[in-house]
Amino acid sequence: MKRFDIVVGDITRSDAEAIVNAANTTLLGGSGVDGAIHRAAGPLLLEECRTLGGCETGKAKLTKGYDLPAKYVIHTPGPIWQGGGEGEPALLASCYRSCLSLAAANGIASVDFSSISTGVYGYPLPQAATVALRAIMSWLSEHELPRQVRMVCHSEATAAVYRQAWNLWYAEEKDDRL
Ligand code: AR6
Repeated sequence: MKRFDIVVGDITRSDAEAIVNAANTTLLGGSGVDGAIHRAAGPLLLEECRTLGGCETGKAKLTKGYDLPAKYVIHTPGPIWQGGGEGEPALLASCYRSCLSLAAANGIASVDFSSISTGVYGYPLPQAATVALRAIMSWLSEHELPRQVRMVCHSEATAAVYRQAWNLWYAEEKDDRL
C-alpha cells in the first residue's frame, strides 16, 4: 500500500490518527482551516491550546482532538508569504518536518495535512506544494512512522496542483516504495 496520497475533502472529517492545523503563533484559533478545526473539536481544544504558550513559525505542537474523529491535532504556524526572500521555503519545509517528527515521536501511524500557508498567509500554491511534497517524501523515505500520510485539499483545483508537485518529485526520485 502506498504511504502517501492526495485527497479532496474537509480535514475536520478526517479519520487519520492526527490532523495538521495551519495555525498561527498564538495557537489561539483563527479563520480558515484553523477556525473549522476549533469549531469541530469544541471548546476544550482552545482550553488546551491556552496552556501551550504559543508556537514558533516552522515548529509544531500536539493536542488532543476532542470532538474530532482524529485523536490528535498537530498545530503548526506556517510562514506568512513576503515574496520568498525571507526564508519562507525553509520555514515551510520545517513545518512539515516538525509535524512528522512530532507524530513519529508519539507513535502516530497516520497523519492528514492541510495545505499550510496557502490561504490567509498567501504562499503561492505551486511553490508551497513543491516544498511540501519534497519535505514529506524525504521524511517518508527515511522513517517508518508515520506509516500513512495524506494531503487533504479543500478543492479539486488545489489537489491538482499537489498532484503536479508529486509528479515532479516522482520524475526526479523514481521511488516506488512510497
Ligand atoms: N479542510 C481542509 N482544508 C481547508 C479547510 C478544511 N475544512 N478549510 C480551509 N482549508 P488557511 P494559512 C484550506 O488560510 O494560509 C488562520 O486564521 C484552504 O483552502 O486556513 O496557513 C490561522 O489562525 C487553504 O488551502 O491557513 C492563521 O492566522 C489551506 O486550508 C492563518 O489563518 C490553508 O489556508 C494561517 O493561514
